[in-house]
Amino acid sequence: MKEKTALVVYHSKRGKTASYARDIAMYLWTKGMNVKLMASGDYESSKIEDCDYLFLGCWTSGWFVVHQHPHRVWKEFAHRLPRPLVVQTFLFSTYQFRIGSMFRNMMRHLDLKRPCRHTIASKTGRLTFEDKQEIDRFLNNV
Ligand SMILES: Cc1cc2nc3c(=O)[nH]c(=O)nc-3n(C[C@H](O)[C@H](O)[C@H](O)COP(=O)(O)O)c2cc1C
Repeated sequence: MKEKTALVVYHSKRGKTASYARDIAMYLWTKGMNVKLMASGDYESSKIEDCDYLFLGCWTSGWFVVHQHPHRVWKEFAHRLPRPLVVQTFLFSTYQFRIGSMFRNMMRHLDLKRPCRHTIASKTGRLTFEDKQEIDRFLNNV
């Protein structure tokens, strides 16, 4: 059977989201997947062509307790992704106080036909056991 390919793309300001993205990539590698990990600035349209799963992450921006949204750099990246976005998509984010409307806003900028059912968020940037379970549910389409 053909090896599945996952593309993990993140935008990070101080490194926490980058570290979370690396943990996600490592976890996917342990599952025998072919994984491409990159910052959103390094994304090119050719990267998504053969991929089965897309993991997109950004740090949470906002007024700390309300109006959470992805940073402008991530929004610009999101608008460079193909429309419609047919590849199965998983969202992740890091934050300090509240994740709030972050995922809703990420989805809005992706113009998704159906909302992503699988998301994970972290204050630490480390992948937890529960996060891995959520990734497993996504991969198993549960
Ligand atoms: C300008 C700015 C706005 C932020 N707004 C929020 C917010 O609304 N809610 C929140 O929980 N964290 C907020 N944070 C905290 C970051 O989301 C958090 O530190 C994140 O993990 C940083 O990720 P990074 O290390 O990948 O840059 C904000 C940080 C900055 C610099």
